[in-house]
Amino acid sequence: MTLRAGIVGCGGISKSHAAAYDGLDNIELISLCDINTNALNNRADEFNIQNRYTDYEEMLSQENLDIVSVCTHAPLHAPITIAAAENGVHVLCEKPLSVDLETADKMLKACSNAQVHLAVSHQFRFTPLFRHAKTLIESGIIGELRSIREVGKGREAGFELMEMGVHYFDEMDFFMNGISWIQAHITYNGHDVTTADIMHSSKLCTSDRRDNGIVAGDTMLIHIGGSSSTYGIMELYPRIQRHGWMMGPHLLGSNGQLMIKPNPTTGFDELWYCPFDVSFAQYTPDWELLELDPSEFIISGKSWKSRHTIWSTKNIRDAIKNGTQPELGGQNAITSLECVSATYTSHFTNKKVQLPLEKRYHPLKKRLTTGA
Ligand SMILES: NC(=O)c1ccc[n+]([C@@H]2O[C@H](COP(=O)([O-])OP(=O)(O)OC[C@H]3O[C@@H](n4cnc5c(N)ncnc54)[C@H](O)[C@@H]3O)[C@@H](O)[C@H]2O)c1
Repeated sequence: MTLRAGIVGCGGISKSHAAAYDGLDNIELISLCDINTNALNNRADEFNIQNRYTDYEEMLSQENLDIVSVCTHAPLHAPITIAAAENGVHVLCEKPLSVDLETADKMLKACSNAQVHLAVSHQFRFTPLFRHAKTLIESGIIGELRSIREVGKGREAGFELMEMGVHYFDEMDFFMNGISWIQAHITYNGHDVTTADIMHSSKLCTSDRRDNGIVAGDTMLIHIGGSSSTYGIMELYPRIQRHGWMMGPHLLGSNGQLMIKPNPTTGFDELWYCPFDVSFAQYTPDWELLELDPSEFIISGKSWKSRHTIWSTKNIRDAIKNGTQPELGGQNAITSLECVSATYTSHFTNKKVQLPLEKRYHPLKKRLTTGA
């Protein structure tokens, strides 16, 4: 049976979801929805989709969909996901899953009550290079995995945390086999962030259109504790993208290093290996490019070499087909957002914060309303 798919939100990332449905077998993009008719018609014309809606509730009740991609900004992820669940439709939701844990829990509950999947689209971990890097680590190529370092794309940290930070938390969760705790420090204009520095994401970051709710700080240093004594370090600070985005993990082991970064010219990820546990200029030439067999990137006859949505879409398609849980479904859908809450809680309490969090409210909203 071919699964029927729809997309809500026809902006930037919807192209990647539409191409994913186009590129996968046993699933077909049937309908699109956007309140902006230009965005809707442009995407629909591009992928030759006839069924077009400006109201997602109407689309969900009329199209008998099996799965919907939620591709709006974060504050709308919850109402659209809950409406999908009420119509018996599985959900592949863009990151961040929501703006706080309270609403994310409601999304998960609605999907679980309706017995449909809710998966979040952190596609990095599903790509062949990330899978290969994990296999290499497990085979001992870099000894014991000691730490993982990530930097942001250069936007203000409070905004970046919701855009790239959640991807990095997921990536660390993947390589470390689980995140145990978070310890963070946040500054704004050079001083420690206080309640007075909490603001809407559109005020903090004026260079990006996306709404990420209430955020704080332009610079963050986040320590992430994993299982088996592996640590993550995330540094988010305003920076110039001299060589492209440079997003991707630097994995340091007791006996070597691995790095996955997009090639600044092609945009395709590359996996590099260095047989030394510390970066020492003299040995820099010993970094070696590890190439995978090109067949690893092929899905239905086409090569997908970038961190494309097709990799997370394939995972949820297979879960629906096989009656299994998607890898980033169930409680796993919430982990990266939980790390966001823990980051702010850690800064304001000056403590290491254990996961999972008992308190589900938005730590910044709570401070704004109660002062603590
Ligand atoms: N996984 C990734 O790598 C990745 C990459 C880019 C963006 N994203 C995420 O995807 C989400 C969307 O980002 P984007 O860059 O595509 O945003 P965008 O601004 O380009 O598009 C959002 C679209 O949603 C539409 N919309 C708003 N309200 C709507 C409603 N009620 N019903 C239907 N449509 C509505 C808007 O008109 C707009 O066309 C964000 O959460 C972002 O973080 C993920």
